[in-house]
Amino acid sequence: MVIMQKSISTEQGSVVHRGGAAADSWSTRRWRQRLRGRYGPWALVTGASDGIGRACAVELARAGMNLVLAARRKDLLEQLARELEDQHGVEARSVVVDLASPQGVGLLLRETSSLDVGLVIASAGFGTSGSFVEGALPAELQMIDVNCRAVAEMAHGFSQRLVKRGGGGLVFLSSLVAFQGVPRAANYAATKAYVQSLAEALYHELKPRGVDVLACAPGPVHSGFAARAAMTMTMAQTPDEVARGALRALGYRSTVRPGFLAKALELSLKLLPRWGRVRVMALVMAGMTRGHA
Ligand SMILES: NC(=O)c1ccc[n+]([C@@H]2O[C@H](COP(=O)([O-])OP(=O)(O)OC[C@H]3O[C@@H](n4cnc5c(N)ncnc54)[C@H](OP(=O)(O)O)[C@@H]3O)[C@@H](O)[C@H]2O)c1
Repeated sequence: MVIMQKSISTEQGSVVHRGGAAADSWSTRRWRQRLRGRYGPWALVTGASDGIGRACAVELARAGMNLVLAARRKDLLEQLARELEDQHGVEARSVVVDLASPQGVGLLLRETSSLDVGLVIASAGFGTSGSFVEGALPAELQMIDVNCRAVAEMAHGFSQRLVKRGGGGLVFLSSLVAFQGVPRAANYAATKAYVQSLAEALYHELKPRGVDVLACAPGPVHSGFAARAAMTMTMAQTPDEVARGALRALGYRSTVRPGFLAKALELSLKLLPRWGRVRVMALVMAGMTRGHA
């Protein structure tokens, strides 16, 4: 678990878009300026090797923010760091870290201690599916380590740091499954309920201290997630849509369901009592795990 890579640096706050920036609308440019001004110069993104974390890192680089990219797959992190530096003129570093390990978050805190990190995106996470009782307990406990224990440690360590620096932002990846029990994803949904609840509460604790907290609760997203969780997703959002939705909502509310699909799914469940939502989710998960153990 080591920092491996750094590269070219840019003048603080200057954005060198080397591709496609001319096509950005005025509101997009304003939004990116706000991101950089309020949360720059450095952002830490966990789960940056794939999916939503990777998409957040790309969006932040487009906004001219320097990035610390964290996950386990060194090659993917190094490749992304090179791409961000080449295409957006920012500085990108990689930290290879296993957040299931009790030492993982400590390493992240140490490796970022000399950087002015104003934004933390805690996207690393994974799910399982199928019968909880028949499933392997070690995988479920490891999921609690990554999705909950590491998130709690990050929330604690980086909140202290952000309060001390006078402001910043924290984004946590919740899910639409966080709002009711989900048969055949029982433990995963429980881990996301933890994240959702933590973020909602921290939003209020930290707002008066200048730190914006957001729970991002997407529906199904096309990423590496489904394969690892042994789920089949027919209808799903893109990681880019989720990343943009989250970064646009940060600072304005405590929870966002990013994109049309997440909002439509929320609306379709909203009128049901909690027990009814559990039953609907049981049917949904039966479809998503058909053919799996
Ligand atoms: N995809 C969905 O349908 C969906 C829906 C709602 C919420 N979410 C949540 O969104 C977050 C991101 O998911 P995603 O869709 O982007 O999935 P993904 O494409 O599988 O990405 C997960 C990321 O987490 C990292 N990761 C997993 N285990 C780790 C560990 N032990 N230590 C360090 N990093 C670890 C992975 O990197 P390495 O493998 O390189 O370590 C990867 O970068 C998760 O918290 C997930 O629960 C996903």
